[in-house]
Amino acid sequence: METQLLVKIIHMSVAGLAIVAILARALTLFVGTQGNMPNPVARTVLVALQHFAITVIVLTGIVSLFLKDFDVQPWFYAKVILFLVLVSSLGKAYKKDDSILLVQRRAGLFIAVVSLVSILALVMIKPNFG
Ligand code: HEM
Repeated sequence: METQLLVKIIHMSVAGLAIVAILARALTLFVGTQGNMPNPVARTVLVALQHFAITVIVLTGIVSLFLKDFDVQPWFYAKVILFLVLVSSLGKAYKKDDSILLVQRRAGLFIAVVSLVSILALVMIKPNFG
């Protein structure tokens, strides 16, 4: 199979895995919370899944860029910025710091989900900003 297509299939499949991991972990901010901290059950598995998915997305994304000779549409830059917002707000939402209120964590999660939905809209619509 053509390398570019294979890398793209891995990129998209792992993006699907990331969505499942983000949504599953979101539940830990609503069910079984302990004070200001998320539900600790399955924390390790969810963290591992999320880290794996995000790492593979970035690696396959960078490999795709090289395979395409960096020939990208303007919306691609919006996607990268939204991805950075996604990762940083997830980091805030689950930071191991008891002084971060649950409501602040949920606000972080909300921003992350809005970024994720926007990335999905971008890759589906591929808007022409030109
Ligand atoms: C949650 C984050 C992400 C999601 C859901 C996502 C999803 C997708 C999808 C669905 C496609 C296929 C679009 C199509 O051709 O129809 C795609 C392509 C691509 N993505 Fe991502 N992506 C994400 C993050 C990233 C990041 C961080 C990078 C860069 C480091 C990246 C780089 C690329 C490139 C270069 C392509 C074009 C591949 C090609 O046409 O061969 N993506 N992405």
